Amino acid sequence: MRALEWMGDRVRIIDQTKLPLEEVFLECRNWEAVAGAIREMKLRGAPLIGLAAAYGLALAAAEHESSGFDAGVLEYLDEVGRALKATRPTAVNLAWAVDRMLAAARRDPGTGAGEVVQDEGRFPTRGLSGGPARGLTRALIAEAGRIAGEDAAANRAIGAHGQELVPPRAAILTHCNAGALATSEFGTALGVIRAARDAGKEVRVYATEARPFLQGARLTAWELVRDGIPVTLITDSAAGIVIRSGRVDLVVVGADRIAANGDTANKVGTYNLAVLARANGIPFYVAAPRSTIDLSLAEGTLIPIEERPSPEVTHFSGRRVAAEGVEVFNPVFDVTPADLVTAVITDAGVARPPFRESLTGLQGGDAWR
Ligand code: MRU
Repeated sequence: MRALEWMGDRVRIIDQTKLPLEEVFLECRNWEAVAGAIREMKLRGAPLIGLAAAYGLALAAAEHESSGFDAGVLEYLDEVGRALKATRPTAVNLAWAVDRMLAAARRDPGTGAGEVVQDEGRFPTRGLSGGPARGLTRALIAEAGRIAGEDAAANRAIGAHGQELVPPRAAILTHCNAGALATSEFGTALGVIRAARDAGKEVRVYATEARPFLQGARLTAWELVRDGIPVTLITDSAAGIVIRSGRVDLVVVGADRIAANGDTANKVGTYNLAVLARANGIPFYVAAPRSTIDLSLAEGTLIPIEERPSPEVTHFSGRRVAAEGVEVFNPVFDVTPADLVTAVITDAGVARPPFRESLTGLQGGDAWR
């Protein structure tokens, strides 16, 4: 199951706001539609919004080229890149993918012919008209295809490294959705769980609902039930009793941005789980590709935290449940301090404290961007 497919001249996504009750596919034919889908959470998850933005830039290049390619294209792509980055501020993968696409455009403006997409079957390279894409568009479609392929490989590698940390029989608690629906495929936290199952381990999962958007109840539960992995849904507030009663062996979550010191932004409520894990003596793992590590930020207080509209909290399933007139604060991410993180499982290996050294080492010793 793939949350996003490049169809040659458009991006096809599964509308995650409709899952699990309906499987509705949406087609984005221009970058504005991609930006809207990200903003409205029709697709979400740090690596997936980065991938979608990458294809958004390819669509912008195609639009520009089909209207008569001229020297203004790089400025136009910069402008589109800024708009795409502004859709959701917390996950660094979005800015990372946009910057990578803009760098590809600068390297090869209008001369992308000869760039080959890794997997022609999955990511066919055609222009908007259905004919062969022209230079820059072709180069950008290829670059987005590489981002997709690399993310898929990264998730498999995260799974391989992470499953070694899972005991032969394990109950694993996860939060929000860090699965195939949040990535190009397989998932990060759910990738660790899938890889442990594939290695013959007996795993069962406790999935939190993840209020207010219910990514756990709607998406993680859906993915795991489809995969035949035993999963028990709990409310976010039940995590305390569930962990304290000894039912959980380890916690594994995804991440939206990891600062250089290991402080980790992830779905709101993650910090609570890390505190519970520490208080009850179980490991707390973060699983993420290296594109989620932001070595340019010294610590987590510098990570921008997205706040979303109040109806997400005051309403349930489209109906108001909270008293009229109440004030709402709706931060949708929080930051877990590095000292509560047992290890960060990346595609390049497992980073342990002190994270400043281990994360920098995994990135090849240099700032990532
Ligand atoms: O608001 P969302 O649904 O985009 O938040 C998603 C998360 O917090 C995930 O845990 C994170 O993006 C990692 S996805 C591999």
